[in-house]
Amino acid sequence: MTTKILEGCSQHDLELAGQIIRQGGLVAFPTETVYGLGASALSADSAEKVYKAKGRPSDNPLIVHLSKAEEAEKYAYTNKLYYKLADSFMPGPLTVILPKKDIIPDEVTGSLKTVGIRVPSNVTARKFIELSGCPIAAPSANLSGKPSTTKTSHVIADLMDKIDAIIASEDSEIGLESTIVMPYEGGVKMLRPGAVTPEMIENIGISVTLDKAITEKLGDNEKPLAPGMKYRHYAPRAEVTLYSGSRENVNNQLKCHKGIDSAVILCYNEDKELVLAKNSYVIGSRENESNTAHRLFAILRELDEREGVKNIYAELPSSKGMGLAIFNRLIKASGYNVKEI
Ligand code: TXA
Ligand code: MG
Repeated sequence: MTTKILEGCSQHDLELAGQIIRQGGLVAFPTETVYGLGASALSADSAEKVYKAKGRPSDNPLIVHLSKAEEAEKYAYTNKLYYKLADSFMPGPLTVILPKKDIIPDEVTGSLKTVGIRVPSNVTARKFIELSGCPIAAPSANLSGKPSTTKTSHVIADLMDKIDAIIASEDSEIGLESTIVMPYEGGVKMLRPGAVTPEMIENIGISVTLDKAITEKLGDNEKPLAPGMKYRHYAPRAEVTLYSGSRENVNNQLKCHKGIDSAVILCYNEDKELVLAKNSYVIGSRENESNTAHRLFAILRELDEREGVKNIYAELPSSKGMGLAIFNRLIKASGYNVKEI
């Protein structure tokens, strides 16, 4: 299959992308979180093509993307809580799990009776969804097991000649996937952390409980509420070790790996001594979590391409605010390899 590269800023190209979707094809498109691999959410066959192109297990449900929050009525049983969340966070990086209506095929939801609803804020994404004339089922546009894609070049590297088209556009603004919540005991349970933080949801008067899978490795018999959280996503080729402890102890431990060619130290701007090491890689500033989030997957991909990197060492990030999403992606990248020091 030859993949067409379409321009996100061209009305003509977005119309063509919509046409491909209506004909049952697959189109990768930009969103503010990560790039998505879109298909018609009303077609079982299109959903199956998505699983095949990504090499993803088909029990892992796809999120359904809409151009307006009210459209959810057609595909899911909404409630007051949904509209309260939508008023504050849609369009934006939030997915809400609701009971699904029959119009959404079981293949889209991995046979679950619920569906994840998301309204992206990215303008190109919204135009593309509108021009498609149907809801868009989309996982992140990466090969299964690789970090999500935050640049057009990542999508090309993973999916060229496996899908019908890629909408070329700017880098994803946020860089980590959407926050996922489901109604739970009068409030919500958070299944995956993202740029909409537990604090932000609590600020609008909704209580938040974190699913255990966000911060801990589940036992063999335990199941996360979001089926995708059980997979070891975001795994770089190198072994990742995270150190947890006082800033001083962690820095001292990281310094032990200075100058070792097969090791990379991920550090912050503020860690002056580490920044100077020839094998260190600055992931941002402790003061600016959004910037670290924005670059994290691109950094993991870049390190994967470097020859000879066998180990990656980093500090376990704080789990406050947006830090929780970075914490969650890094502990998964490490396969929960956290050393207390
Ligand atoms: O930011 C995002 O959400 C991106 C962009 C493209 O919108 N999409 C994304 O999709 O990250 P994906 O497929 O890579 O991750 C979706 C996650 C998976 O962990 C899946 O198990 C969970 O959402 N999920 C989807 N539908 C669900 C449902 N009905 N119940 C529970 N979890 C669900
Ligand atoms: Mg994904």
